[in-house]
Amino acid sequence: MQRVRKAVLPVAGLGTRMLPAAKTVAKEMLTVVDRPLIHHVMSEARAAGIEHFVLVTGRGKGAMEDYFDHHVELEETLRAKNKTAILDELLADLPKAGEISYVRQMAPHGLGHAVWCARDIIGDEPFAVLLPDMIMDAEPGATAQAIKAFEQTDGGNIILVEPCPPGEAHKYGIVALDGQDGRLNRMTGMVEKPAPGTEPSNLFISGRYVLQPEIFKVLETVERGAGGEIQLTDAMAKLMGEQPFYALEYEGTTYDCGDKIGWLRANVALALKRPDLGEAARRALAPLFA
Ligand code: UTP
Repeated sequence: MQRVRKAVLPVAGLGTRMLPAAKTVAKEMLTVVDRPLIHHVMSEARAAGIEHFVLVTGRGKGAMEDYFDHHVELEETLRAKNKTAILDELLADLPKAGEISYVRQMAPHGLGHAVWCARDIIGDEPFAVLLPDMIMDAEPGATAQAIKAFEQTDGGNIILVEPCPPGEAHKYGIVALDGQDGRLNRMTGMVEKPAPGTEPSNLFISGRYVLQPEIFKVLETVERGAGGEIQLTDAMAKLMGEQPFYALEYEGTTYDCGDKIGWLRANVALALKRPDLGEAARRALAPLFA
């Protein structure tokens, strides 16, 4: 079985739910506490053993290339001022030369199309997909949990899922399971945004995947689906005819930061958890709820 070494992080979407900010600030560069969403998710991928990161970018997303590069003037200034703690942190979080690639989607034709754009860099090996607007607060990290399940199931494809709030299944990609025994279960199907009352389970696809490279061939032929976009869900459902798919109900908390309230919740929750900020955050926020 091949090791999962590479990850695709699609960042080319328009982020319409985060307008007006997303008009000129890439959604993935919005900060949660003190670092952009993409930084949180890159850290999660690195902690899972990922060695090469493929960012699928688009127009107006160039700030991410600068973010994951040296800023010589800033680094010299921090060094001169002896601000070594933050300088060391900045340097430690930079990808090493050659560890990160950028590929341009050119037009936001959907998540499936974004993943397909990474095909040449991924090549013929299993890979992880992380949606950077989903912050998954977990220990071990969500991607590490997905890769562990991949190893346990001897390959195949892994999709992280979690229960969706009652009555909200029609907003999500929902999985169908071949019986439910524990957290890791074989899947029999999946459907994007099912009509209310028709959902096959209450488990939604929450933003981390380990996929086999055969998905690229399927993505080439899949028709445009919901919203006129090339949907990753449709391609996975098609590939399921040929390869096993497993849903892993991961242990952790998800914050959908592509949504205003989800993003706000993530800021508050992660600030409260931070050893250096938690107490001050609690004191500052408490009067708002008095
Ligand atoms: P979303 O559907 O959450 O992103 O895709 P969006 O389309 O930008 O958001 P809204 O609905 O308009 O607010 C999840 C991830 O996939 C990327 C997005 O950038 C986001 O990180 N994506 C989506 C692409 O890279 N390309 C696409 O065509 C669509």
